[in-house]
Amino acid sequence: MEECLIAYCRAGFEGECAAELQERVIQQGLVGHARAEPGSGYIAFTLYNAGMAERFAQQIGSLDLIFPRQLFISPGLLKDLPVTDRITPLVAALESQANRFSELWVETADTNEAKALLTFCRKFSKPLRKTLEQRGKLNGKNLSAPRAHIFFLSSVAAYPGVSFPHHSSPWFMGIPRLKHPASAPSRATLKLEEAWQVFLTPDQRRKWLQPGMKAVDLGAAPGGWTWQMVRRGIRVTAVDNGAIAPSLLESGLVDHWQTDAFHYTPRHFADWMVCDIVEKPRRVAQLAAKWLANRWCRQCIFNLKLPMKKRYREVQQCALLITEKLETAGISYELTFKQLYHDREEVTGYLRLS
Ligand SMILES: C[S@@+](CC[C@H](N)C(=O)[O-])C[C@H]1O[C@@H](n2cnc3c(N)ncnc32)[C@H](O)[C@@H]1O
Repeated sequence: MEECLIAYCRAGFEGECAAELQERVIQQGLVGHARAEPGSGYIAFTLYNAGMAERFAQQIGSLDLIFPRQLFISPGLLKDLPVTDRITPLVAALESQANRFSELWVETADTNEAKALLTFCRKFSKPLRKTLEQRGKLNGKNLSAPRAHIFFLSSVAAYPGVSFPHHSSPWFMGIPRLKHPASAPSRATLKLEEAWQVFLTPDQRRKWLQPGMKAVDLGAAPGGWTWQMVRRGIRVTAVDNGAIAPSLLESGLVDHWQTDAFHYTPRHFADWMVCDIVEKPRRVAQLAAKWLANRWCRQCIFNLKLPMKKRYREVQQCALLITEKLETAGISYELTFKQLYHDREEVTGYLRLS
């Protein structure tokens, strides 16, 4: 069996996911090729360098890749699993990869077609878990041990494999399950909540999302992102010609400016600038860079709406543009992009002074 990397992604972004992994593999002096079926919600990347998949996966941080939601290494696809005993070959494949596992996740792709398989995955995980436990292979306390994944393509075909803590998503199927808060004025609210979950550690969230802090929300209406900040007691300047939800204005924490976000100049330094404007990605990237270059804010989260084609290239161009502007201004910064679960044809950027 060939060793491969399995990456989950948003359905329709398999090309971007494959291009990004290909680039990373080459950067590490390795060779391989991706098999990416459009709309499948995952890619399988075969590495030609024997025994190198683990080293590769261990060098990738969970925020190092934009389009993959999850990454694990697999000895290969097990096809034609016997319906009377799928467990024996799957356990053998897992045990060929590691001695012990911290967790077991039985997963499938995040597509409409694969949704029906989820029920099967849930049922199947019970006897499989029991078998691994009886063999002394599962230990929930050993958090540094690899996590076992079984990624089902159908009820008789699956990729078994392992991922490593700190080098993979901590969420089942790579998807954080966030509940839409009933009082938030838009569903977009979950994008900012997820961004904070993904980009900040629990410690950073405690430190950097404190009551009394100041934020500017560019393109704020109707106020889903502003709602997230108000909920944390953060004072928000909401910039948008559109209407902001009255409940937010009544909170006493929101100041509404009906003006163009691209020409708005803040009066005070802000802890946060967030931006969810539907505009050309490079224009939004320029705006984020301008805020940091002028030291108008400490950190920002911004959403880039991607074009139909060359989407990975576009994100790279935006990153380059920010880099050039901040380096010219002599600013030390950290920049990360991620396609979040709640992003559609978009990616989210996180930029902060360092
Ligand atoms: C996707 S919506 C923002 C949704 C918001 N984040 C929420 O959670 O409710 C984009 C907003 O950007 C605003 N917008 C577009 N261009 C703008 C500009 N140049 N200046 C300020 N606001 C702008 C629109 O009026 C719209 O309300």
